[in-house]
Amino acid sequence: MDSFRIIGGQPLFGQLTISGSKNAALPIIAASLLFKEKVTLTNIPELADIRTMIKLLNILGAETTFENNRLTIDPTDLRSDQAPYELVKTMRASIYVMGPLLATKGHTRVSFPGGCSLGVRPIDIHLKGFEKLGASIEVNGGDIVGKAKYLKGSEINLGFPSVGATCNLIMAAVLAKGITKMKNFAKEPEIWDLVEFLNRSGAKIMRKEEYIEIEGVEALSPIEYSVMPDRIELGTLGAAALITGGEIKLKWQHSDIISSFREKLEDMGHHVHLDEEEGIYTFKAGKMKGNIDVRTLPYPGFPTDLQPLLGVLLSLNKGTSHIHETIFENRFMWVPELERMGADIHKEGESIIINGVKTLQAAPIMASDIRAGASLVLAALAAKGETIIRRIYHIDRGYENLEKKLSSVGAKIFREKI
Ligand code: UD1
Repeated sequence: MDSFRIIGGQPLFGQLTISGSKNAALPIIAASLLFKEKVTLTNIPELADIRTMIKLLNILGAETTFENNRLTIDPTDLRSDQAPYELVKTMRASIYVMGPLLATKGHTRVSFPGGCSLGVRPIDIHLKGFEKLGASIEVNGGDIVGKAKYLKGSEINLGFPSVGATCNLIMAAVLAKGITKMKNFAKEPEIWDLVEFLNRSGAKIMRKEEYIEIEGVEALSPIEYSVMPDRIELGTLGAAALITGGEIKLKWQHSDIISSFREKLEDMGHHVHLDEEEGIYTFKAGKMKGNIDVRTLPYPGFPTDLQPLLGVLLSLNKGTSHIHETIFENRFMWVPELERMGADIHKEGESIIINGVKTLQAAPIMASDIRAGASLVLAALAAKGETIIRRIYHIDRGYENLEKKLSSVGAKIFREKI
């Protein structure tokens, strides 16, 4: 199994390019099942989760090629509508095939995802939405079986703005008969990338103030589409430079979609700036100051995916800070690992209180999920001594060439077999 060996204390300086967004690419790849022609996608990150989604499409019968971040998908000859347990258990986003399969085949059988390291994570909002669109849903032998003669437009109130449910239901509704109005939808930027791809391919999806309106169309005709850059990788690499006292420039061909994170970094005394014309985000370490309070929220609130990264920065900040997690249970799995490195953190329910310490010390530690893993890389980059991080397959699920990128800006990080 691969591990990272990291020798801390090297300030990071230089320039990097941000890869394509995993969370935008996954639903867009699944959406290729809505077409009757070959789909070409570019800027697709080379990641374990992307490979899993491609494997799932292959099992369904789609033919794919994936080289140099360019993915082609030919879904014209699907032979199956089943997403097996082996894949769904490794990646919950496998359920993204449900919407497109219901829309095009009228039948789908997807293994019930169950829990994951982030907690229970139900999919009731997806399923209630499919029912609203006219599908019947039942659980059979550990699988969710969805059936629909055809889907018809409807009014859906998600109740909670689930990212996954919003994407899945958009994909289900684009080919439905009539108009769908979706209230309490998620507003994460990755959703608008899916919408952009579908609209440019002939879908009719309109974002209104209070709801998304989807007018069903007969068929879609694919355009070649380049997936947006990854805002969580942007935040991670920026934070890596800050925690080491360095300065990094990150190529970013997009608008400012990390403002809630940027504002907290600025409150801490760092300098973060986006030059939209140049397409460059600069992160420069400043003098750490202040007690910071953070509450994770759906977009445009503070993203839960950047919570572990900010937490590690705060563990070395002056003063006492608070983080309240409102999106996922079990999102503080990085805390016990960081305590092993000398951090002073107390957990109270869904909150943590962080008393900043002067230094972290190297220790053997373990990644538990993608972002917890990345936060430990940050801690190791700042720590005194040599840290070994095990179970980095979690990190490989969501970061393209992380060690190569970090090495090229001065980090001492090595991938080793242990
Ligand atoms: C997506 C992202 C993930 C991010 C999260 C929140 C992908 C592949 N993953 O995950 O990186 O952290 O958004 O921004 O894009 N919930 C229900 N019932 C449902 C669906 C969700 O109760 O049917 C709950 C979940 O258990 C969780 C919360 O809603 O507590 C947020 O989930 P959701 O927004 O759906 O996140 P994901 O799409 O799973």
